[in-house]
Amino acid sequence: HHKGFIFDLDGVIVDTAKYHYLAWKHLADELGIPFTEEQNEQFKGVSRKRCLEILLEWGNLKVSREQFDSWLTEKNQDYLQYIEKMTEDEVLPDVPKVLNFLKAHGVPMGLGSASKNARPILKKVGLIPYFNTIVDGTQVSKAKPDPEVFMIAAGDLKLPPRDCIVFEDAIAGIEAANIAGMTSIGIGDPETLSGAKYVFKDFTEIDLDFIKELAEL
Ligand code: BG6
Ligand code: MG
Repeated sequence: HHKGFIFDLDGVIVDTAKYHYLAWKHLADELGIPFTEEQNEQFKGVSRKRCLEILLEWGNLKVSREQFDSWLTEKNQDYLQYIEKMTEDEVLPDVPKVLNFLKAHGVPMGLGSASKNARPILKKVGLIPYFNTIVDGTQVSKAKPDPEVFMIAAGDLKLPPRDCIVFEDAIAGIEAANIAGMTSIGIGDPETLSGAKYVFKDFTEIDLDFIKELAEL
């Protein structure tokens, strides 16, 4: 195959972006730091640690290593409470349609996520078998917009970056795909994701002819 597809997880395959937001909001409220959904856009695709650093910068808080780590743990435990309750129903609309189509045509697929919880989430929603490689936050050292996560996935799929198509809901993720020289497809708001080559509100707006063209089938 000439082409391969790399999917971000949170906000692309599953609607976990809302859970990340709720967990950060909870912590921000506790610390008395204002935190809006608009600010949350800057957290998308960004590692847990980096998110907390940014939040504390906004709140002008300097804290000890121990305090920092304990807030990281608190945020994740809060997040995991939402994840535990997840079912297959939380796979976003028409994502299975695209995954099934690509799988049926033998197109290589990878996951490229900043999350350390990516594997357990994929398992919960039953999507592990679709992916030829799963690259997550436990494997990468440089966070998006650094292209590391997508470059590792492309390497695993044995494809040059120009033959990879990336689906992303995060500004940082679109940037990472572009820097890597991959085709970037934004899922979300066209204004927010103006750096993407194509943008769709969600997968229900993507038809299989377009996927077929991208995949050069
Ligand atoms: C990304 C999310 O996929 O994973 C970010 O878009 C999140 O919002 C990051 O901070 C890290 O996730 P986790 O599960 O390791 O805290
Ligand atoms: Mg995302």
